[in-house]
Amino acid sequence: MFGDQKVSFSGVQPSGNLTIGNYLGALRNFSAYSEAYKTFYCVVDEHAITVRQVPAELRRRTYETLALYMACGLDPEKNTLYVQSMVHEHAELSWILNCFTMFGELSRMTQFKDKSAKHADNINAGLFTYPVLMASDILLYQTDVVPVGVDQKQHVELCRDIATRFNQVYPDTFTIPEPIVAKQGRKIMSLAEPEKKMSKSDENPNAVVYILDDRDTIIRKFKRAVTDSESEIRYDEAAKPGVSNLITIYSCFTGKTVEEIEREFDGKGYGDFKAAVGEACADALAPVQAEFNRRLADKAGLEAQMKKGAEEASWYARRTLSKVQKKLGFVQIR
Ligand code: TYM
Repeated sequence: MFGDQKVSFSGVQPSGNLTIGNYLGALRNFSAYSEAYKTFYCVVDEHAITVRQVPAELRRRTYETLALYMACGLDPEKNTLYVQSMVHEHAELSWILNCFTMFGELSRMTQFKDKSAKHADNINAGLFTYPVLMASDILLYQTDVVPVGVDQKQHVELCRDIATRFNQVYPDTFTIPEPIVAKQGRKIMSLAEPEKKMSKSDENPNAVVYILDDRDTIIRKFKRAVTDSESEIRYDEAAKPGVSNLITIYSCFTGKTVEEIEREFDGKGYGDFKAAVGEACADALAPVQAEFNRRLADKAGLEAQMKKGAEEASWYARRTLSKVQKKLGFVQIR
């Protein structure tokens, strides 16, 4: 809570082309809070440098991610949309919270274990303390709810533990946030290896549907999706992970329930089903893509938004950081 306003905060890394996993698990759920909450949605470029980035690409994707926020229905008049590195309080609070986070806690983070296996030549300290920066993002705004996909839930839970620990020493500092994981779309799986999460860093482009893929590409990728040797369209995550993932995706894009989908495709083959999923996905993404292109073409508009968003966010971030510094005993002379 900031004053008497409830707060929603979330972030997306500009570290690759965003996928329908990012869209269904996170982005499309952000706008649900725009009316009743004070909302902050951040392009987290500081998180992205925990793995090496090409500077020009990072810059381009930062613009693109902001344009995509708007294309996903986030009106900049109703939501604070901004870029993390333009608000220095994130990095500052992160140092302080490092001193309230235990080595053992960070060692248990599954994303750290996965990423350090994947980037064995660059297991830098930032990769390890990444969840502390994420906790700082959230806590700076006295956040109540954090809409995320299920893979980020562990990080939000750690954020709660850090905030609780800080509050025990310095009472009434932080609001304790709640992760909000969508019932459907919480974990969209790879189309090539449906036991694995769909990830923007996957090297196999057929495993991933990007939000900005064109219609033909989307339909082709779904046609190639791995299923199983049966022919029945039935939801069973353990026995039929590929088909179950496609049912989830179809359900997210059409609003139909799993039972309705099973009935709709009763007696039909995988070919028909995959084509229908591809069509539904392409139809749903078409307006998002059109709005994205419109927003991206207006570079000056995006830059004006980056400036305005950073100013708005800084106002809140400064208030929390200054409260924290005062409680810690840092000298404050204004
Ligand atoms: P990132 O950039 O990896 O992903 C952005 C959001 O997309 C969700 N997501 C998925 N949801 C369902 N199925 C999938 N296959 C899938 N892949 C990704 C993620 O759960 C996330 O919600 N650490 C965060 C970014 C971050 C953040 C924050 C989030 C930084 N600070 C503060 C919330 C609050 C991350 O790497 O997300």
